[in-house]
Amino acid sequence: MTETMGASVQTNGGVAVITGAASGIGTGLARKALALGMKLVIADVRAEPLEAFAATLDGEVLAVPTDVRDLTSVEALAEAAYDRFGQVDMLFNNAGIMATGFSWEIEPELWNRAMSVNVDGVQNGIRAFVPRLLAAERPAQIINTASVGGFLPAPLMAPYSVSKAAVVALTESLHYELQMIGAPVRVSLLSPGPVKSGIFDDPFGPNVSPAAAAFVDTMRSMLNANGLTPDEFAELVYEGLAEGRYWLFPQPETIDAPFQHRVASMMDRVNPQLIDFSEL
Ligand SMILES: NC(=O)c1ccc[n+]([C@@H]2O[C@H](COP(=O)([O-])OP(=O)(O)OC[C@H]3O[C@@H](n4cnc5c(N)ncnc54)[C@H](O)[C@@H]3O)[C@@H](O)[C@H]2O)c1
Repeated sequence: MTETMGASVQTNGGVAVITGAASGIGTGLARKALALGMKLVIADVRAEPLEAFAATLDGEVLAVPTDVRDLTSVEALAEAAYDRFGQVDMLFNNAGIMATGFSWEIEPELWNRAMSVNVDGVQNGIRAFVPRLLAAERPAQIINTASVGGFLPAPLMAPYSVSKAAVVALTESLHYELQMIGAPVRVSLLSPGPVKSGIFDDPFGPNVSPAAAAFVDTMRSMLNANGLTPDEFAELVYEGLAEGRYWLFPQPETIDAPFQHRVASMMDRVNPQLIDFSEL
């Protein structure tokens, strides 16, 4: 039986903040939040698509152009959310980017960008929002988005695997810390499998190797063939949240067997072997 965390936070009438909301998974999370009766603060580094997406939504929506790499920008997002709505019930640290290539070829700029968006972005969300959530002394939920890649390091996406493994660790530390102080703020680690989105639109630095280009073609085809839509995915996420789950693995078929295999290889001291990620 899966252990859960008890009561979930207010959805109807509550407020959700979603970073990286102009595309892909964030759009599904946003539409589902509105469908549940939530008010919405959506944030993205790309202001125009963010405004365009906001214009498609029906409900109380505040769009705040935000660069999650920049703590000042995320602080401004938190200010804007509390100024407008006076409370935050759910924070989705969702913004993230892909970075591909052989690890010895990836340009430092691309490597740093992946770390900065995927890890600093989540940390900035924690730093800007947790003190405010604690001060409110009411239930709230933080959902940090990692990836199956955070549990299963893959070839040709080292910055992504490294950054998402960091999100797995950071989120669990945060979870324990909030338990230590008896806070009513709960944490969940969201680990998507394939979801149709823009994540593979531009995962390269200026020098794209043929191997990285072929890998991205495979991953794009895999997302198009097997990926859930953002709306299908969001349904599963909010189901898990309603059940009070820390571990949100909406597509268990993409992680359970390979993760068990990986843990067994460690426990049995068997060397890891390259597997075909296009079949995940
Ligand atoms: N789609 C998948 O199959 C999949 C699988 C595992 C994990 N994820 C994770 O899900 C999350 C959402 O990704 P997606 O697939 O919807 O991709 P996406 O590219 O469609 O959406 C990501 C959004 O984040 C925004 N963003 C990028 N840098 C930003 C920054 N510095 N500040 C604010 N916003 C920024 C982008 O502009 C974009 O709108 C990411 O963390 C990603 O790593 C996705």
